[in-house]
Amino acid sequence: MPRRYHVRTYGCQMNLHDSEKVENLLHHAGWRPADGVDDAELLLLNTCSIREKAEHRLASDLGVLREWRSQAPGRVLGVGGCVAQQEGDALLRRFPHLDFVFGTHNLRLVPELVAAAGAGARRAETAESRSQERFDLPERHPAFRGHSPGRAWLTVMEGCDLFCSFCIVPRTRGREISRPAAAILDEARTLAEGGVEELTLLGQTVNAYGRHDARRGRHEAAGSVPFAELLAQLDAIPGVRRLRYTSPHPIFFDEGLIRAHAELETLQPHVHLPLQSGSDRVLERMRRRYDGAQFLRLVERLRASRPDLALTSDLIVGFPGETRADFSETLRVVREAGFVDSYAFKYSPRPGTAATELPDRVPAEEAQERLEELQTLQRALTLAYHRRRVGETVEVLVEGPSRKREPGEAGAGAQLQGRDPYHRVVNFRAPRALRPGAWVRLGLVEATPHSLIGELAGVQPSAPLADEISQPVDLS
Ligand code: SAH
Ligand code: SF4
Ligand code: F3S
Repeated sequence: MPRRYHVRTYGCQMNLHDSEKVENLLHHAGWRPADGVDDAELLLLNTCSIREKAEHRLASDLGVLREWRSQAPGRVLGVGGCVAQQEGDALLRRFPHLDFVFGTHNLRLVPELVAAAGAGARRAETAESRSQERFDLPERHPAFRGHSPGRAWLTVMEGCDLFCSFCIVPRTRGREISRPAAAILDEARTLAEGGVEELTLLGQTVNAYGRHDARRGRHEAAGSVPFAELLAQLDAIPGVRRLRYTSPHPIFFDEGLIRAHAELETLQPHVHLPLQSGSDRVLERMRRRYDGAQFLRLVERLRASRPDLALTSDLIVGFPGETRADFSETLRVVREAGFVDSYAFKYSPRPGTAATELPDRVPAEEAQERLEELQTLQRALTLAYHRRRVGETVEVLVEGPSRKREPGEAGAGAQLQGRDPYHRVVNFRAPRALRPGAWVRLGLVEATPHSLIGELAGVQPSAPLADEISQPVDLS
């Protein structure tokens, strides 16, 4: 009987993909996934510290898990991710039932740390590394399918050197480092040969890919290429039908990348483009390196290249010193950019970041009001966008059962969901069961505030069919 692990992940797609990397390593070490926490011998928490709330979750989780750890002999508990990177062995001191801590550059050590824990050693490994070693991971184990059939994440760079004044990420993920193009292309080919048709390139500032090498005139030595060229090479891989990338930074869109959106057939017409604020004063204090007009000019250039481009964004309200007038600027830019969706957050002070020193904190109620106002505007923009889409026929990659599904509903006729090229969720019913990873053509018949509703116009010949709907996969 193989030993069983369970991983609980918080945070962004980078973190979800790191969990996949750890899971793959565990497969290679003979472990298999448990059904849940209760039948797991090894439990890993992959943490996030982007806002205070996310960070606090770890302490409450670990509190509850004290009992889990003591319920059966030999159980092992490990913590990784951004909180682990920040806190290191302080976590071991604070939580005596915690077996080990692994940092964001030390995923490779997890199997070794698990083995050491079995022998009674409590270790924290959070050394920062500037070497390529961390990308040097084994291929997907045959028994490990990844979180989402038909789709995969692909790391192209890690870290961030921009140090926006509100953000903890440069402290938890370290300095920017790009992976050699050859290694990325090899992994992409292997994934495509294994049936992956949609690739999402990942990096904390993904379109900064290779920029340090370019600046030092050593693209060739480092094995990187300009980001647009990387996209073109990935686009040419047989079997790749969809390419996406996240999260880009507005200052790293060069002509080549903008043109790629017109030229590359597989590059999907959606870009997640974090704005943060529409006020020049606030953007300056955030150290974002663009102003509202430059952001809108970028939006215009992207739209000139790809007129149907859908843009989504991240926004922060209540940044220190943000006045009502600043906030109104954010509302204006959001409207002018016409985001089809956005994630808005209240500013949360992060330890060690420059913004914690700034005066003029915005009162909590004021920040809450602004958040709600911004969300109301976004809901209206999203619904209007969805309404404009009704009547179109789109290609949708099936992700799994719809979130809107009734309890107990399954099999043929059940409600499914997938993503269209614009990354919008489309819910639909299929007369026969379709498994995640299948492709369907859907006529869009109804708009809701959060998603579109489609009617089946056809199942594509390449669609892999199954008798039963697979278990829900990653629906995030
Ligand atoms: N690299 C991406 C952002 C990654 S963090 C970029 O440069 O845009 C994801 C989002 O979390 C950010 O876009 C920001 O909107 C939000 N965020 C980051 N730090 C925050 C903080 N201290 N308080 C509130 N929101 C924050
Ligand atoms: Fe954080 Fe700014 Fe880097 Fe994005 S670009 S990860 S917001 S520091
Ligand atoms: Fe959170 Fe770290 Fe991602 S702080 S958002 S898990 S990079």
